[in-house]
Amino acid sequence: MKYLIGNWKMQLNESESEALAAEVVRLWAAQGATKTDVTVVLCPSHMALEEVGKITRGTPVAMGAQDTFWEDKGAFTGEISAKTLKELGCEYCLVGHSERRQFLAETDEMVNKKVQALLRHGLVPIVCVGETLDERNSGRRDSVVISQVRVAMNGVRLVGAQRVIIAYEPRWVIGSGNAVAPESAAEMHHLIISTLQELFAADIVDRQFSVIYGGAADSKNLAGFLAMDVIRGSLVGGAALKPLEFAAMAEIAADAVIK
Ligand code: PGA
Repeated sequence: MKYLIGNWKMQLNESESEALAAEVVRLWAAQGATKTDVTVVLCPSHMALEEVGKITRGTPVAMGAQDTFWEDKGAFTGEISAKTLKELGCEYCLVGHSERRQFLAETDEMVNKKVQALLRHGLVPIVCVGETLDERNSGRRDSVVISQVRVAMNGVRLVGAQRVIIAYEPRWVIGSGNAVAPESAAEMHHLIISTLQELFAADIVDRQFSVIYGGAADSKNLAGFLAMDVIRGSLVGGAALKPLEFAAMAEIAADAVIK
C-alpha cells in the first residue's frame, strides 16, 4: 500500500475546500476504483470536514483531519475530539505537524495522547516527525527523530488491524520547494523503522506501520522517493492544493506500486 495524503493546512475557505475535494474525486474516482493499492487522503481544515466528507463518502478518496484533542468530551475550548472526527467521516488524522510544534508548542507527550485517542476511536494517526535545520546541522538529526518516535508511541499497543503512519518531514524543507534527496529520506525511514522495531514486534512494524515522506513533494520528485521501497507514500502540502498536480501524484504512486 502507498499513501498520498494532502494536507490543506489553513489555506482554503469552506467553498474552496468543497470545490477542491470535488475536483480531486472527479479526477481520481475512476482510477482509484481499480488502483486500490494507493490510498488517497484529503485533510481539510475542521470547518470543512462535514461538507468534504459528503463529497468523498463512497468514493476511493478518504478524508483525514489536521489535528485532534485527546479527551472525548469536556471543557476544552476550541478543541475537537477523535470521536467527533470519526462521526464526521474522518478515517485519518495528522498529529504533531511541525507547524503545530512550532506555533502552538505541541509536544511529543501531547502527540502521544492524541495517537492513543485516535486509535481508541478507530482512526489512523499520521504522526509527523522531523528535525529542524539547526538540529540537523548540529548533528542531532537522528536523536531528535528517534526521540519523537519513541515518545509518540509510548504505551501504544496496536490491536486487530489498527494502523499508524509516520510521516518523516525534515522541517526546514516544508514549503521550501526543495525536497531532500530520496537517499537521505530513505536513510531516515530506515532509522524510524529500526526505532519502531525496538518498540514493537517485527511483524507488527511490517504490517501495521507505514513510513512516508513529506516536504516539498510534487509530481516531479515523487517517483524518486517512491522508488525507495522503504518510502511508502507522501504527505503533501502545496502540491495538494492543485488538483491536476495531486491527481498526477496519485497516478505516480499507483505506478510505483505496480513496479
Ligand atoms: P509542503 O508541505 O509539501 O508544502 O512542503 C508538507 C507538509 O507540511 O506536510
